[in-house]
Amino acid sequence: MKQPTPPIEWVDDHIRIIDQTLLPSELKIIEIRTAAQAVDAIQRLAIRGAPALGAFGSLALVVALDEYHSKSLNEAISHLESCRVSIGDARPTAVNLRWAVDRVIDRAIARSSDLENLRDNLLREAHLVAAEDAEACAEIGRLGRELLRDAVVIGTHCNAGRLATAGTGTALAPMYAKFEAGEKLRVLASETRPLLQGARLTAWELNDAGIDVTVVPDAAMASTVLSGEVDAYIVGADRIAANGDAANKVGTVAHALAAQAAGIPFYVAAPTSTIDVQLELGSEIEIEQRDASEVHEIRGERLTPLGVSAANPAFDVTPNHLITAIITEAGVLKPPFMDSIAKAMGRVGGSA
Ligand code: MRU
Repeated sequence: MKQPTPPIEWVDDHIRIIDQTLLPSELKIIEIRTAAQAVDAIQRLAIRGAPALGAFGSLALVVALDEYHSKSLNEAISHLESCRVSIGDARPTAVNLRWAVDRVIDRAIARSSDLENLRDNLLREAHLVAAEDAEACAEIGRLGRELLRDAVVIGTHCNAGRLATAGTGTALAPMYAKFEAGEKLRVLASETRPLLQGARLTAWELNDAGIDVTVVPDAAMASTVLSGEVDAYIVGADRIAANGDAANKVGTVAHALAAQAAGIPFYVAAPTSTIDVQLELGSEIEIEQRDASEVHEIRGERLTPLGVSAANPAFDVTPNHLITAIITEAGVLKPPFMDSIAKAMGRVGGSA
């Protein structure tokens, strides 16, 4: 498999990312040198996907510290405390962002006695967040491939692949693992209105890797599944509550209902960093409401009549009873999720 362009890279003293808003027409790398640029990149989805947001937000703390030119350790720490909110809460639904920012700040502060080692410790911990995510993706790929051994046609929604993580993805990791093992595979990528992460990003990265991918309009997916053409579904997640309810890109619930009606498995793949044991139920997850212009317009061209309003929730929550299993790096979690999630979080040192 040829080496893909990394979606996030630390180079010398700044971050380089693929501007995902321009894919697939343009593969443009942009440089992030300030906290404001980092927040802007997160909010306009130049970088996106829950684990990638965690890896990127961690590195953004280093550019934020460098840019601030603190004169003392205390001044640097209070600046990082403000970044905890400005960077950590730049998007509200993907828990990985705030989780990673909190982890990197807390561990770096705890280990640092002066300004210089604060910066070194921040960078070291940020690299560790990314390295652990890459390992989690590999394990999810291995476990997912075992579960999907007999599945040839697999549906997915949004983009939960290389572009959305620091590794081979969550939902797409088993596809890469199957492909590498030479197994037969055809991926159906639902287009994912309004920002088309499936049509633009999943289709781009799988096609780039040589994997057979077909883009299916969101509205055509249910009938395709009901006709018996699809063997299984696998999607990512932005935040999973303690009971297994899973927030993911808006539209996911419709796919889960179609899978249930067709009697095919519906898997959610996510690292344990996506599980938020502080929330018991999915109804407690904050759903990001994005600007109505994303629904009204495509690339600046107005689709809807002037004066009409539009709703733009970015995520929905799939109830746990529609989920066959949650594939994590700590194992394949099965219902009842309240128990399996608590055990898995105990194994990885979570707070369940
Ligand atoms: O709004 P986005 O593009 O950040 O939404 C991304 C998703 O919903 C992904 O499925 C999720 O973050 C998992 S990424 C491995």
